[in-house]
Amino acid sequence: MKQKSEFPIYKPEYQDHADSRLIAQPSDMRMGATKIKNRMARKVFIETYGCQMNASDSELMAGILTQSGHQTVTDIEDADVILLNTCAIRENAETKVINRLEHLNHRKRRESNLVIGVCGCMAQHLRDKLLEAAPYVDIVMGPDAYRNLPMALNAVVSGDPYLGLQLDKGEDYADISPIRKEGIRAWLTIQRGCDKMCTFCIVPFVRGRERSIPLNILKDDVERLVDEGFKEIVLLGQTVNSYHDGKHDFGELLWSIAEVEGIERVRFTSPHPADATESMIDAMENSPKVCKQLHLPLQSGSTPVLERMRRTYTAEEYRKLVQKLRERIPQIALSTDVIVGFCGETEEDFDKTHTLMEEIRFDSAFMFKYSDRDGTLANKMLDDDVPEPEKSRRLNEIITLQEHISAEINQTKVGTTVPVLVEGNSRRDNEQYHGKSDTFKSTVFPKENAQIGDIVNVEIHSATAHTLIGQIS
Ligand code: SAH
Ligand code: F3S
Repeated sequence: MKQKSEFPIYKPEYQDHADSRLIAQPSDMRMGATKIKNRMARKVFIETYGCQMNASDSELMAGILTQSGHQTVTDIEDADVILLNTCAIRENAETKVINRLEHLNHRKRRESNLVIGVCGCMAQHLRDKLLEAAPYVDIVMGPDAYRNLPMALNAVVSGDPYLGLQLDKGEDYADISPIRKEGIRAWLTIQRGCDKMCTFCIVPFVRGRERSIPLNILKDDVERLVDEGFKEIVLLGQTVNSYHDGKHDFGELLWSIAEVEGIERVRFTSPHPADATESMIDAMENSPKVCKQLHLPLQSGSTPVLERMRRTYTAEEYRKLVQKLRERIPQIALSTDVIVGFCGETEEDFDKTHTLMEEIRFDSAFMFKYSDRDGTLANKMLDDDVPEPEKSRRLNEIITLQEHISAEINQTKVGTTVPVLVEGNSRRDNEQYHGKSDTFKSTVFPKENAQIGDIVNVEIHSATAHTLIGQIS
């Protein structure tokens, strides 16, 4: 039996005007949108859920709000506007936000002027249905409508909710300066949306079509980030390596970002195995600034399951790609995403995933039970037929396997020296720093004379599945 949630299926709606960002939406027009000046400067708290792309979008939202005279605050108690930047990837991501909204509504009952907004993927997924579940929500805004945030804050003064749900494949926010926390690692969105349409995935429906930001703009951004003190850049996109701005591909972008003076490290997430081109591998192999680390989502080790997922590669092709990467870049660290219990996954299919994980030996993995999402192709075409307890059993099995492998791989680092970019104080001990190795392993070590932002050589003397522990050599 297919499990149907209470929410109907939504199709993505695309707006296709070159300058669509200037076109007011129905609720804006009602307010005479473009003419409205800020009625009052607001104090906005943004709470982020989900992936790095959302974290990066929250920085963008902060940029848009600040540019229009509002202020973002770091203490939620100081805020008169609370925006939840949400995730829709699995059902529990949405449940978490619904629970959070109920909690925030207690405060709204005491402070009637408090504005609550739901932004991001869940807003785009549930649309006005969200208002049925949480009628006290003032703003429902999808990932392509953030430019209208100031307008929305003005509009809700009237008491009506503001809905900004148009997807817009011309929107790349390339002209907006995000507001980032100071630090050494900056996340830079180079591409929005996704054209891949994996059958299990809601992302193409809530983030719209793929679009890449022009290389020259990204290069300027990186130069600015270096001036602000950032040392490491993580390029972000749903299928980051399918980047193409019409003139340059992903490999060219990597080379060009890595050449910016003052940049110490360049990483990216997440690539799609089918787009792992020679140009990408060449930059990883030959640019000293591009880290030898790759998050390469596998999803399943069974080819029939991969076909039903429409991942566009077979298990064998994935295996060969890993072989090639390891031949070309022997020190490369690999991590992955795996889904268990996808529609029609048999014990034999699951065994193939288990075996492939044993064979490849990823440094780490994010592992998930399949969660049926309204609106996806799998939801329409396939049965979510693996029973919940079976999904849990399979998940636990691969988690146990992966923990074991991660611990063993980290053990092999004991006695070696790894370069670590110092990020800040260790959470547990102020006398220690933490940072990431070039292969993205968390490393903890006594401070000695190192400064935040330095790259230091750390000799590893012990290791757990998740952390390397050592001292500066
Ligand atoms: N290309 C994107 C993928 C975003 S989703 C990126 O890597 O940034 C991240 C991971 O969530 C996917 O790789 C997949 O393993 C998992 N996922 C996506 N949809 C899911 C679903 N319906 N159920 C369970 N896991 C899912
Ligand atoms: Fe989702 Fe597949 Fe794109 S996992 S984000 S549809 S590559």
